[in-house]
This record gives sequence, structure tokens and C-alpha cells, in this order.
Amino acid sequence: MAHSITLGVHTDRASRYAELVPQVRSLLEGETDGIAAMANLAAAVHGAFDWHWTGFYRAIGDELVLGPFQGPVACARIALGKGVCGTAWKEERTMVVPDVDLFPGHIACSALSRSEIVVPVRGKSGRVVAVMDIDSVVADDFGPIDAKALEELCAMLSPLFE
Ligand code: SME
Repeated sequence: MAHSITLGVHTDRASRYAELVPQVRSLLEGETDGIAAMANLAAAVHGAFDWHWTGFYRAIGDELVLGPFQGPVACARIALGKGVCGTAWKEERTMVVPDVDLFPGHIACSALSRSEIVVPVRGKSGRVVAVMDIDSVVADDFGPIDAKALEELCAMLSPLFE
């Protein structure tokens, strides 16, 4: 059966997430492939909010490697501890960056990005297996509501990774 993500006309971000989270849960139900799940999760979130870039980097060896995403082309590899993504991976925590120009070592994949959020994705073992990265062209676009909802969405991937 084909799935689609439809959101009502809400201006309130919390309400959008309240609709999106169960829709994504149903979209991913029964999926056993982690990459397929990441691809649909990125597409669903990207489409719901029309952000500049929405996607995943997977932790492979000592690097983050570009995974499924929506948006412009991006850097393919990020070292542990580098940029916002590499820092979120190293510190194993969600990073909210209100102004990317003020983040030391920010990796500018696109000159249009103004703010960014990065959420670690844990596998079944609790190890960080990937990060979800979202870039906005609007400064200070992310806050605790985004962090909580995106962490809930990323937790849906955990059973699909070791
Ligand atoms: N800005 C990120 C790099 C990834 S791109 O934004 C897609 C960072 O500093 O880690």
C-alpha cells in the first residue's frame, strides 16, 4: 500500500510534529532496512517543514559518511569531532546551533544555511550509529520542541541498527 504524509494547515510547529510523529511511525512500520527507513524519514521531515537540508550521516569507522538526504548536494565525509555533526557524534548529544557562523568549525555545505540541529541516532546496543542533520535558511530556527520531536523520530530507527 502506498503511504503519503499529509499535514493539516497548522502554523504551530508543535502541532505539526504531533501530526507527523504518528504518520512517520506508520510509514516505517514493518520496514526492516535501516537505510530505507532513513530515506523515508528524511523525506517526511523535509517535506513537512520545507527546510533547506534534511538528512543522515552514518558513523562508519572514524568518519561520518553521507546517507539518505533531501536538499542540495553535501559534503560526503565528516571526521569525528568536526563540524556540528562530528561534535554531536563525539559528544553523543543533540546540538542546536542558532547561528552557524558563530559555531567554531562549522562545515558550510551550503552558504544559505543559517541555523542547524543535529540529533544522534542510536542502534540497539546504544551506540551512536548515525546523526540526523537539519539545516535552515532562517536564523535561530530550532529549539527544544524540535529537539524532542526529532529525538523521538530518530528513536524509531534504533531497532534497525546494531
Ligand atoms: N553543517 C554540517 C555539515 C553537514 S551539512 O550542513 C549538510 C556540520 O557543520 O557538521
